[in-house]
This record gives sequence, structure tokens and C-alpha cells, in this order.
Amino acid sequence: MAAWQEWLEKSDARIRLVAPDSDEAALAEVMLTWNPPAGLIVSLPRLKGVISLGHGVDHLLQDRDFPANLIVVRLVDPYMCEAMAEWVLLALLQQHRDASAYMAAESRREWINLAPKIAGEHTVAVMGLGAIGVQVAQLVARFGFRVLGWSRSQKAIENITSLTGEDGFGQCLAEADYVVSVLPLTSSTRDIYSADAFARMKQGCYFINCGRGLQVDEDALLAAVDSGQLSGAALDVFRVEPLPRDHPFWSHPRIQVWPHIAAQTHPGQTAGQVADAIAAIHAGKPPANRVDRAQGY
Ligand code: OXD
Repeated sequence: MAAWQEWLEKSDARIRLVAPDSDEAALAEVMLTWNPPAGLIVSLPRLKGVISLGHGVDHLLQDRDFPANLIVVRLVDPYMCEAMAEWVLLALLQQHRDASAYMAAESRREWINLAPKIAGEHTVAVMGLGAIGVQVAQLVARFGFRVLGWSRSQKAIENITSLTGEDGFGQCLAEADYVVSVLPLTSSTRDIYSADAFARMKQGCYFINCGRGLQVDEDALLAAVDSGQLSGAALDVFRVEPLPRDHPFWSHPRIQVWPHIAAQTHPGQTAGQVADAIAAIHAGKPPANRVDRAQGY
């Protein structure tokens, strides 16, 4: 809270943060939050808006008591988009360059030589072409991969083949050597990576997910990796977070577990847009990046 106060004051000296359990919280017009405890939002009588300190808002909107009249704002942060693209590239290149095989050989002091791979002969499907997905797709394309992008509406992005709808989804699964998911969680993306989806992926496909865990049937993913249908997975998000200590993903040799850190919010990078959103809500004006509650992002 101290860090946020310091950064927000630099953008707008009128902003004062109060702790949610203080008496002054009853006066708060805007809540800055990631995952508030149940009941907190409805307990604040003067609240006009909630700002999610992340790109996603699914966790807020799934609260049945979330008041319908509250304005919801999410971050769209260029730094987080870059960080996410960086993480995807790391996961992708580790697999593309057989990092785990070479590191395992190193631990055996073995000088091995695997067949080289050419990026241009490999297809990456980026599922979700919002601010994050576009950055991911463009970065990956710069490394020479063939890139497909799947989104709700058609997009015109240089070097990316834009696909939509059920047919586009099927084409991504069928053609991609790497399926990279950065989809927001909505009613239409929940459970989208089902046993059927993994079965429709190209054999040996590698799955990278930094969207949301609730989009994945984790048992089906495990079975697909164990059977060799998928070559493995790099995951930053899970159905339950933190991932329970007895979850089989932890010890699976072909599944990488990352603790939801692909992109972390940095107050210094985002205080400007948070301060602008607070000022807009206070003034009764529409803030940037207001969430369409029906759409879910
Ligand atoms: C986000 C996230 O939504 O980090 O920003 O998951």
C-alpha cells in the first residue's frame, strides 16, 4: 500500500489510499484490488468503482454479490504485455531448442547433438489477440515462426494469420506445433482446453498457458502429455492457485510449473493509468479500459 500511495501521489496528489479495514474505508469511492475477500466490496457504501490491479477481472466478476452498478476497470499495461511476451518466448524457445534434453545431458556430462530445428518450419498458434496476445504474436513472428492468431473478431496484424470462430479454433489446434494461450476467462473460454481439444492438437504439440487455469481440463492435459499426444506444457496458471503441493504437475518431467508470475503488476509502471481511472470515476466520466461486464473483459 505504501508503494502504491507513493507512486499514485506522483500522478495525482489528491489521491489518498486507506486500508480496507480502517474507519475511513467507508468514505472510499474507488477500490484498488486484486482478489478482495468475499463481502468487502458490498460493505463499502460510497464505492463507485473497482480497479483490478491486473489485466484480468474474472475473479471479481464471478462474485455473485458484485454490485451491478459498480464501474469495473482493468489494467492494460504495456510493461505487463512485454513481460508476458518475454515469458512466452522463454517457454517456447526452451522447448524449440531442446533445453531440457541438453540440460539433462549436461548433468550426465554427456556431449550430445540433437537434430537442429528451423523456426520457419514450426507454427505457433496464439489463442487470444488482445493487447497481450498481439505483443506475444508479434514477438514470436520476429523470431521467424509461422504465427496463427485466434480471437473473437478478425484482426489485421502484419505477419499473423488471423482466425476466428469454431473453424479457426480447429485450424489452430490442427496446425500448431505450439499452442500458446493468453485468453481471458469468460463463459465461452472456461474449460475450452478439454480432452477433445487436446486430442485435436497435432501430435507432439507443446502447450503454453498464461491465460487462466480454469480454461484447462488438467486431468486431460496430464493424460495427453503422458500418452505422447502432447510433448509437454509450460503453465503459469492453474485451476487452483497456489497449485496444491500434491498436484501431479509439480513432479512431471515434461510439465513446467510457474507460480503465476509471467507478468506482475508494477506500481511505477501503472500508477498513471490507475490515477487517471480514479480521477475519471470521481468526476463521473467514463474511465479508459472500463470492463464490459457482459463480455467479461
Ligand atoms: C492478470 C494476471 O490478469 O496477472 O493481470 O493474471
